[in-house]
Amino acid sequence: MPTPKMCPPELLARDLTGKTYVVTGGNSGIGLVTVLQLAKQGATVVLACRRPEEGEKARAQASADARGRIEVVALDLASLASVRAFAAEVSAKHPAIHGLVANAGVMNTPRGKTKDGFETQLGTNHLGHFLLTELLLPALEKGAPSRVVVLSSCYHDVAQGREGRIDFDDLGFERRKYDGWEAYAQSKLANVLHAKHLAERVRARGITAVSVHPGWVRTNLIRSSLPVWMQDTVLRPFLRLAGMIEPWEGTQTTLYALLSPEVEAHSGAYFSQLGMYRDKAANAGGWPLRSPNPIAHDDAVAARLDRVSRQLVGLPSA
Ligand SMILES: NC(=O)c1ccc[n+]([C@@H]2O[C@H](COP(=O)([O-])OP(=O)(O)OC[C@H]3O[C@@H](n4cnc5c(N)ncnc54)[C@H](OP(=O)(O)O)[C@@H]3O)[C@@H](O)[C@H]2O)c1
Repeated sequence: MPTPKMCPPELLARDLTGKTYVVTGGNSGIGLVTVLQLAKQGATVVLACRRPEEGEKARAQASADARGRIEVVALDLASLASVRAFAAEVSAKHPAIHGLVANAGVMNTPRGKTKDGFETQLGTNHLGHFLLTELLLPALEKGAPSRVVVLSSCYHDVAQGREGRIDFDDLGFERRKYDGWEAYAQSKLANVLHAKHLAERVRARGITAVSVHPGWVRTNLIRSSLPVWMQDTVLRPFLRLAGMIEPWEGTQTTLYALLSPEVEAHSGAYFSQLGMYRDKAANAGGWPLRSPNPIAHDDAVAARLDRVSRQLVGLPSA
C-alpha cells in the first residue's frame, strides 16, 4: 500500500500564537484533529459544530500542553439563519481571521432537505459553506495573508461509479431519481469549483483559497453507508489494507494547505492525499494535483455555480 503524504514536521511545530482559525465540523474526525493540532501550536480556534455539547467534549480532548484556546460556537450548515448568526458572532469577536477550514460534511445521506429546502448534501457541504465564506471574507481580509481550505473529496471525480457533475437544471434532484452518491459527487465537485472561483476573486485581497481531498479516512462520515462500529472494529484491518487511513494521516493535507507557505503560489488548486480516481495515475495524490475531472477546470461552470449559489443563499451578485 502506498504511504500517505505527511506534512513537513516544521510546519506542525510552527508557533501560531496570535492567529485565529475557524474549523467547521470541528467536533469529529478530520475537523477534530485539525482543531487540536492548531490549538497545540498556540492558535485560537473557533470550533464550529451543530451540537455544542459534542464540541465541548472535543475541547476537553485538547492536550495539556496546548498553548492555544478553543472556543465552541454553534453552527448548523443546513440552516442559512444559523450560518448568518454564527458569522455575525464570530466576526464580532474576531475581527481578523487567518484561516477558515470548511470541513464539515455529510456523505451518501438518504434523500432529504435542509431548513431552506436545499438537497441535504449540496445544502450542507456547499451552500452553507459558500454563505459562511462570503460572510467571513471581511475578517479574512483583515487577517491577510489568510487561507480558505475547502474539504472536497476524490469523489468529486467519481463516487462509487457516479461521475461528478453539476446539474444546473436539477440541482436538488427534483426531476431525476435521487442517488446519494451522485448527490455527494455533485456537492464535492461544487467544493472544488467554489475554491477555484473564490481564489480569483480574493487574490488581490491577500486571501488564498484551495480545496483538498483528505484521503479515505476512518471517521464517522461513513455512517449513512455502513455502521461506524463495523468500520472501526471487525472490518478495520481489512479496510486499512484496502487503503483506509487514520484521522491523523487524513488531516495532513488540510494542515499543509492551511500552513505551508508553498500553497500561496497555487491559489485555486486542488490538493490530494492518496485517492481513487478515474485516471489511476492520480491515485498517488499530489500537493497540488490536477483533478482528472475536466469539469473541475471549467471556468464557465465555476462562474455559473457562483452566480447560482449567490442567488440561492440570498447574496447580491458579485
Ligand atoms: N473520511 C473520509 O474518508 C473523507 C474522504 C473524502 C472527503 N472527506 C471530507 O472530509 C470532511 C470531514 O469529514 P470527516 O471524514 O471528518 O467526517 P465526520 O467525522 O463525520 O465529520 C463531519 C463533521 O461535519 C459535521 N456536520 C455534518 N453536518 C453538519 C451541519 N449541518 N452543520 C454543521 N456541521 C455538520 C459533523 O457534525 P456531527 O458530529 O454533529 O454529525 C462532523 O463534525 C467532509 O467534508 C468530508 O466530505 C472525508
